[in-house]
Amino acid sequence: MKIAVIGAGNMGGAIVRGLASGTKVAPENIWVSNPSQPKLDALKTCCPALSVTTDNRQAAEAADYIVLAVKPWLVGEVLGALSLRKEQVLLSLAAGVTFDRLAEYAGTERTLFRVIPNTAVSERASMTLIASHNATPEQEKTVLSLFDELGLAMLIPESKMTAAMILASCGIAYVLKYIHAATEAGVEMGIAPKDAMKMVAQSVEGAARLILDNDTHPAVEIDKVTTPGGVTIKGLNELDHAGFASAVIRAMKACL
Ligand SMILES: NC(=O)c1ccc[n+]([C@@H]2O[C@H](COP(=O)([O-])OP(=O)(O)OC[C@H]3O[C@@H](n4cnc5c(N)ncnc54)[C@H](OP(=O)(O)O)[C@@H]3O)[C@@H](O)[C@H]2O)c1
Repeated sequence: MKIAVIGAGNMGGAIVRGLASGTKVAPENIWVSNPSQPKLDALKTCCPALSVTTDNRQAAEAADYIVLAVKPWLVGEVLGALSLRKEQVLLSLAAGVTFDRLAEYAGTERTLFRVIPNTAVSERASMTLIASHNATPEQEKTVLSLFDELGLAMLIPESKMTAAMILASCGIAYVLKYIHAATEAGVEMGIAPKDAMKMVAQSVEGAARLILDNDTHPAVEIDKVTTPGGVTIKGLNELDHAGFASAVIRAMKACL
């Protein structure tokens, strides 16, 4: 399988690094294009077997899968200049650019994917949302397996993309807000800021692992650390009195 990544910014660059160090595509089969050379040089330094170019057409020429990682407002211009072959599969990262819009530029018959990673893709810990259009089950399996190597990937209908992005892409900011707030509590209680931040971040990762690795539920896991009359329940009830759950739900819904 040959892949071209068009746009080597935050997302494109992280995806290239992840794919190049994964098992699904040989680095020699990855082309990357970007208008400015320094980003290409940086990728080439980390993965010398990649091919890089400032010419999008050259990058896309031999690719089976083309990952479009440019800003949404550049999608039309970049696709218009590519002249893709009909069998080439397009994966668009552009947030908010629907299949209808992509088909206007790439043709209604084309196999299209919308792929929305979150910023943890750089750590290979992304929650990546994928929707497909005109794809075979094999193509869906291939794209899912590519992004499963960069964290966890899930196939969803396009109609659920906005809600899922709020959970997974905006949601990462809300988790970071919790990490920041809890770190400040630690500092107030006399723990050095960097230590406090690590303690909180590892606890968040641990909580996430408990959910992802087991057939469980947050309420079940909370119950395990909540001794009757103990300290944890006091804090949990304070969170409830302050409207924690309601604030999270309202924050998510405010993004709609
Ligand atoms: N950031 C996120 O959390 C996130 C999450 C999900 C999806 N997305 C989507 O991912 C896409 C990329 O976002 P990003 O955050 O990676 O943006 P970014 O860091 O600005 O990267 C965009 C890259 O596209 C390059 N570029 C500009 N014009 C180009 C052209 N004509 N041909 C090829 N490459 C071109 C830019 O190059 P120069 O800078 O050298 O000009 C830049 O390296 C966006 O559509 C965004 O909606 C982002």
